[in-house]
Amino acid sequence: MNQHEARLRSEELRSKLNYHNRLYYVLDAPEISDADYDDMMNELRAIEAEFPELITPDSPTQKTGAEPLSTFEVVDHPRPLLSLGNCFSREDLENWYRRLADRMDGDTIRLVSEPKIDGLAMALIYEQGRFVQGATRGDGLHGENVTANLRTIPVIPKTLKGSDLPDRFEVRGEVYMTRSGFEQMNAAIGEANIEREKAGRKPVALYANPRNAAAGSVRQKDPSITAARPLAMYVYQLGWIEGGKRPGSHHEVMQWLGDMGLPVNPEIRIHETLEEAYGRITWWGGQRERLDYDIDGTVLKLDDADAWDRLGAVGREPRWATAYKFPPQQRTTKLRKIEVNVGRTGVLTPFAVLEPVFVGGATVSLATLHNEGDLKRKDIRIGDTVIVQRAGEVIPQVVAPVVSLRDGSEQEFEMPAVCPSCGVPVVRDPAEAATYCPNTSCPAQIMRLLEHFAGRGSMDIEGLGEKMALLLYRSGLARNVADIYDLTPERLAGVPEFTVKGGRLSKVAENLLAGIEKSKSRPLANVLFALGIRHVGFETARLLAERLTNLTALMAADAAALQQVAGIGPVVAQSIATWSARPENQAVAARLMAAGVNPVQVGRIAESDLLAGLTLVVTGSLAAMSRNEAEDRIRELGGKVGSGITKSTSALVAGEGGGTKLAKAEKLGVRTIDEATFLRLLAEGKAALQAAPADV
Ligand code: IVH
Repeated sequence: MNQHEARLRSEELRSKLNYHNRLYYVLDAPEISDADYDDMMNELRAIEAEFPELITPDSPTQKTGAEPLSTFEVVDHPRPLLSLGNCFSREDLENWYRRLADRMDGDTIRLVSEPKIDGLAMALIYEQGRFVQGATRGDGLHGENVTANLRTIPVIPKTLKGSDLPDRFEVRGEVYMTRSGFEQMNAAIGEANIEREKAGRKPVALYANPRNAAAGSVRQKDPSITAARPLAMYVYQLGWIEGGKRPGSHHEVMQWLGDMGLPVNPEIRIHETLEEAYGRITWWGGQRERLDYDIDGTVLKLDDADAWDRLGAVGREPRWATAYKFPPQQRTTKLRKIEVNVGRTGVLTPFAVLEPVFVGGATVSLATLHNEGDLKRKDIRIGDTVIVQRAGEVIPQVVAPVVSLRDGSEQEFEMPAVCPSCGVPVVRDPAEAATYCPNTSCPAQIMRLLEHFAGRGSMDIEGLGEKMALLLYRSGLARNVADIYDLTPERLAGVPEFTVKGGRLSKVAENLLAGIEKSKSRPLANVLFALGIRHVGFETARLLAERLTNLTALMAADAAALQQVAGIGPVVAQSIATWSARPENQAVAARLMAAGVNPVQVGRIAESDLLAGLTLVVTGSLAAMSRNEAEDRIRELGGKVGSGITKSTSALVAGEGGGTKLAKAEKLGVRTIDEATFLRLLAEGKAALQAAPADV
């Protein structure tokens, strides 16, 4: 790039970044993801590093945020609120550390790490221990006075504890919204949108993420609205102090602030080496999902706070701190079209076809839209620019449209009138707000059912997945689940895909037959679940199996009899009765039994095998149940309870005040989970842990 090109490109980037700064900081209505913003900022920084003469004082690299709106009183920040430089790799981090070490002239470098909370920066002023002012960062020099709103946030103390308090000081921190609170709030907005649509009113835009929701909540004109929002705060820095002395190191300052009653993050750690700090950074990469607030990286700070002023800043970034950013979990992209999937019960679910985008560590071109209702609630249209999210191991999803980028060409989605798989006219079920294909011989439904039947927790037939289901269906070998048990070496040999040279049966075919044979001994609950009856999940299947004890009894039970089973309600009972009354289903059941799939359930079943294979240790006290209850639940769900931490402990469940076990777990690299994750684990099983893999 020559100087001329650099000038043009940097002007373009500056103007774009200033535009997005205003949307993000002032209007709380960003049009691009943080990651796209960071990309532009990094490009501008690289150009300015090569051509320093192009740096202008108003470059976004030289200032923070954007000038505040006039709705609130503007207040000055006597000491500007800075931002943080970013690192995206170990190499970036080492470079930052080397530059720091050079300036520290051989002094010991002790680091402190903290989660980088994805909220909004706030400066609180306390006078004689009383909270007198709270302001947003604004452009770093001037912020908005939002004191009345901050007073409604429960964790922000109105008065401080202790006797030896400074006359006046300013403390900085991040206001955020909890993730659980955010989900609830967005769900409520979505529900209200359906009503608004019915009334012919325009839908209210959803918040893209907890950060935007927090920003919108703090900047409400009416504090009672803020009060109803699930906001919280952690403080992370002492801004300035008058009439008092602060401790010399950052970790002591934090301790001191905590002693006064200010909310200090318990996840703060001290590290003697960069290596150790890096260990914590990678650990956070795997743990972030367990927190009930969003973090977008880890902040490292020099613990020696006395050296901070001397070290100073480059532009708006202090030399004594940096942020190691996680790969982005949200990006914006175009929604090209919406297609429809047919599930095993015939329900049609829309999914998004996207312009491919790299997010959450993978290139995403398809994303779930959950269901028709969700599409309506979020007001997603074909052609929209949308926010796509991929967090942990979770399936990518379309979070919300960027309404401000619409040009009028976007189109609302209509469910097809006929099934995309079999062409039979679809049926709408107003009670469930679902559209489904009523054709029980619909190829898509059959293939999905074959897959479900052979899946985990069902008949668990190894080798029978999506591809095999397609092959069995296409070749005509399986058109219902009972056909699976009619497969023989001879019949498979008739299909080229199942043979090798010389017409012999392939290994794949042999394994399939062995898997099918093995599946005949699955317990009754698995069989009932495998049949794929609408509304019969594994738990319902377990209840049915205990009471009815065999398949013949299930087929004979009418809705009234089924409702006698504890835990089975009228809708489920009706669904099962309708299923068993169909002649084709009776034929399937009879053929399964004739093939040897005819288990008898004797006595109670362990509630489930949700936690099978896991050994958990519980420490500290939990809010939702006693430790004994927690341990009983683990056993009921098929898990083991350990008394001490060993290498084979799957996870340590840490309640309030857990002691030495925490340290032991950290030492042995055993994952620690909090109560919220534990409750998810009880509800969802191992998947709750996979969503947040441990890196240690
Ligand atoms: S320290 C000059 N610590 O990240 C250093 N910032 O991208 C001041 N943030 O403006 C920031 N968690 O709003 C610090 N533990 C933490 C943080 C944190 C979140 C925010 C803060 C800052 C932004 C920089």
